[in-house]
Amino acid sequence: MNKPRVFVARIIPEAGLNMVLDTCDAEIWPDELPPPSNILLEKVRGMQGILSLLTDRIDGEVMDAAGPQLKIISNYAVGFDNIDIEAASERGILVGNTPGILTETTADLAFTLLMSGARRIVEGSDYIRAGRWKTFKPMELLGLDIHHATLGIIGMGRIGIELARRAKGFDMEVIYFDHRRRPEKGDSVGAKMCHSLDELLAQADFISLHVPLTTETHHLIDATALGKMKRTAILINTSRGQVVDSDALYEALHSGKITYAALDVTDPEPLPPDHKLLTLPNCLVVPHIGSASVATRNKMAVMAAENLVAGVSGQIPPHIVKLPA
Ligand code: GLV
Ligand code: GLV
Repeated sequence: MNKPRVFVARIIPEAGLNMVLDTCDAEIWPDELPPPSNILLEKVRGMQGILSLLTDRIDGEVMDAAGPQLKIISNYAVGFDNIDIEAASERGILVGNTPGILTETTADLAFTLLMSGARRIVEGSDYIRAGRWKTFKPMELLGLDIHHATLGIIGMGRIGIELARRAKGFDMEVIYFDHRRRPEKGDSVGAKMCHSLDELLAQADFISLHVPLTTETHHLIDATALGKMKRTAILINTSRGQVVDSDALYEALHSGKITYAALDVTDPEPLPPDHKLLTLPNCLVVPHIGSASVATRNKMAVMAAENLVAGVSGQIPPHIVKLPA
């Protein structure tokens, strides 16, 4: 029997890649950069499965270019805003993602960013490298306390819950706002639900974003929302760049409307080295590394491979994305 043909859009960790190679006739895109969209259209032709990354836009055109035999798109990510889920559903194509396994790793990074912002870690490091460390100074590089401060979590999903648990270990007060209003979610970790986003924005010392990117959450943090935060507020984003209006964020940081932003995701992404956000001392940016631990990236590779292999074999993949009801 012929092996199912699949296109793998990047070299992923071996643990998963080998599973794909064992079962499928795989074409693997060898470059570091994503396949350009015109090349992607060619590469997917005749494939039964596609293993995509969050940088690959998989829309109806790509699905049609693949052809009617396409059974599954397996995304190497928990987020799936890069895939047109409706178009997939209309065509009877399954979409897989990698939930659960990266939850704690991503929450770890969100808390790392929170602490780095509060205690001005990167500024401190830059200060030394710039030769400015002459003596102990009573008023240099003063930051904000983490303990007993209020953390506001926007989006109390899996990652939000894990972040709340970390914050509780630091004696933080945790409040949250969830668009789907799931009060039971926060109760289990001793977090208090806010009834409106405004309530959270006004009270929180740290604000961390854990919503998926949807039409509802696009630019959720705009100039108005930033204006409602405390002047001492620190914003943390490990969700998707477009949840924040980058121009408004620049303006708020530049003019001191808020104190600091620590971002794992940006808009645009990647952020060009000459982007204005990178001129600000009070903005820390890391390159979308929320899930980037050795163990978690291996687990993601295995899960994405399992989804792909099950999908092309006509079985139900372990983790498929369901259309919102
Ligand atoms: C990373 O951002 C992911 O969605 O897995
Ligand atoms: C994503 O995994 C989330 O539920 O936060």
